[in-house]
Amino acid sequence: MFAVYADSFASSADDPLTGLVVGERPDPVAPDGWTTVTVKAASLNHHDLWSLRGVGLKQEALPMILGCDAAGYDEDGNEVVVHAVVSDPTWTGDETFDPRRSLLSERHQGTFADKVIVPRRNVVPKPASMSFEEAACLPTAWLTAYRMLFTQGNLKAGDTVLVQGAGGGVATALIALARAGGLRVLATSRDEAKRAKALELGAHEVFESNERLPVKVDAVMETVGRATWSHSIRSLRPGGKIVISGTTSGPKLDDAELTRIFFLQLSVIGSTMGTRDELASLVTMLDATGVRPVIDRVLPMTDARDGFAAMAGGEVFGKVVFTR
Ligand SMILES: NC(=O)c1ccc[n+]([C@@H]2O[C@H](COP(=O)([O-])OP(=O)(O)OC[C@H]3O[C@@H](n4cnc5c(N)ncnc54)[C@H](OP(=O)(O)O)[C@@H]3O)[C@@H](O)[C@H]2O)c1
Repeated sequence: MFAVYADSFASSADDPLTGLVVGERPDPVAPDGWTTVTVKAASLNHHDLWSLRGVGLKQEALPMILGCDAAGYDEDGNEVVVHAVVSDPTWTGDETFDPRRSLLSERHQGTFADKVIVPRRNVVPKPASMSFEEAACLPTAWLTAYRMLFTQGNLKAGDTVLVQGAGGGVATALIALARAGGLRVLATSRDEAKRAKALELGAHEVFESNERLPVKVDAVMETVGRATWSHSIRSLRPGGKIVISGTTSGPKLDDAELTRIFFLQLSVIGSTMGTRDELASLVTMLDATGVRPVIDRVLPMTDARDGFAAMAGGEVFGKVVFTR
């Protein structure tokens, strides 16, 4: 079958695409308890670039079909969204806490292909109101944003939230979901055009990266890491919280602002992906509110390399979607 996969790891961090192959891989065979999904649309995440750099993916797992997210048809012809977190069959409860869990494309083959196999419980019905392209944006970036805001962040209507790095897949989801959830939304971006788009998307106010804010916020949603961490801590009110799910600009800090963290009694909360039930709630929230993922571009999966290059160059606002 057609597939987009990692055959080797990038030799240099500057050129993550050297190991990317657009070609053919064998058809998957679903073991007992698994189902085959025919992929109609899949979306790109920064995770796929990390994979090409060998982060989170082992050499012995290569060749590995990339992609965590997909929407398509299950074996009975139902329209479904794929849940990307695969937990151990014996695990019960919140699957993001399973130490043996993995994301599609880490241990099990990913979604940038004609077909992907997943455990039966890893499919969620896709509402008719949502296109395959829109649904394909939800399983990683949008689910991560949902859990950051409403589960780990425990934010409520009326709270004020700062979203760092407005242009990203997770960040655009954070802005749209926070606005739909009744929060006051502040956002930063390095880029003026992206700041303007963030306003259109629902941010109440936008700022340059690291610009001093006129108010202190209840919570910061952080995916950028090193480049914005200090600003995130400094933007919080006493007792505020920072929810972090990524470090796009790097995880090492010059100043972790430890003094402010204890003196202002701040909380630092990690967040990773989300559960199948949270994905189902996210799908219902979008169906009910009419909020839809921000799609930067839709490309045929055969042109996947162009989408990877745009993300690596920081040129995207929202999600890059591949179709079959
Ligand atoms: N823990 C999880 O479950 C989970 C799930 C999904 C994603 N993630 C992580 O979250 C991060 C974002 O993922 P994504 O798919 O949304 O990536 P993305 O679409 O490539 O977005 C990256 C964002 O980072 C910002 N950024 C990059 N370098 C920056 C810098 N030097 N200074 C300021 N801002 C910078 C950009 O903002 P502007 O261009 O607007 O400034 C852009 O919005 C990644 O690290 C990813 O691995 C984690």
